[in-house]
Amino acid sequence: MAFSTTNSQEWTVNKAGLEPQEILAVALAEFSPNIGISFSGAEDVVLIDMAVKIGSPFRAFSLDTGRLHPETYQFLEKVREHYGISLEIFFPRPDAVEQLVREKGLYSFYRDGHKECCGVRKVEPLRRALEPLDAWVTGQRRDQSPSTRAHVPAAEIDPAFSLPERPLVKFNPLANWTSKQVWTYIRENHVPFNPLHERGFISIGCEPCTRPVLPGQHEREGRWWWEDATRKECGLHAGNAPELVAAR
Ligand code: ADX
Ligand code: SF4
Repeated sequence: MAFSTTNSQEWTVNKAGLEPQEILAVALAEFSPNIGISFSGAEDVVLIDMAVKIGSPFRAFSLDTGRLHPETYQFLEKVREHYGISLEIFFPRPDAVEQLVREKGLYSFYRDGHKECCGVRKVEPLRRALEPLDAWVTGQRRDQSPSTRAHVPAAEIDPAFSLPERPLVKFNPLANWTSKQVWTYIRENHVPFNPLHERGFISIGCEPCTRPVLPGQHEREGRWWWEDATRKECGLHAGNAPELVAAR
């Protein structure tokens, strides 16, 4: 398996119909220890569980936007203790947050969209988190968003965070799993989960930008609900929304 080519759609890992554990094992075999699991504090905890069981060294990091739910902070800590891992927390640059809030207040995203705040609180810290890494792992799935994630591959060259001199490989081991499969794994393996999931939250992001969904609603409808479905990417996964890559 060569990950140096830019023709990432051709990689065997994208075609073989592998299970998430197998994709993760391939990723760790190739990139451990310079590979980081990007953990949001939601059901992507299954990736941590799987990686710990595989046993190769990996890094795990979370982006603390300063606006997460109290339950999510507690859950991050619980995961750190439960698995005995070192969870790296990345904060936004204080001067950038201070300037945004001074100029536009604490809830500007309701008025002029989430892109600016996500840029400051998520995307810039992610860029710093990815700097020392050769590969990163996300919990993205195709079923999370029909309008932006329907074609998420198991592995790709990151179109947003690669540098010309250094391609960054992005693994999405859960791409082909459904929410139901993830939750079956959580139950069968007694994986700890964020208590917000017991209160109607399916997808979990920042507190002001996430709400529970009603029966029958798609999980993505609980995120940035005041915006159009095709714009519900915050920049972490800009490749899913090509205009975000172009705008960088
Ligand atoms: S988002 O871009 O809309 O916020 P989503 O919540 O669907 O993303 O999560 C998809 C994946 O993005 C997660 O499984 C995780 O890999 C990464 N991610 C999202 N938010 C964070 C965060 N705060 N910290 C670390 N990784 C995150
Ligand atoms: Fe800001 Fe909301 Fe984006 Fe969090 S999700 S960084 S609060 S706009």
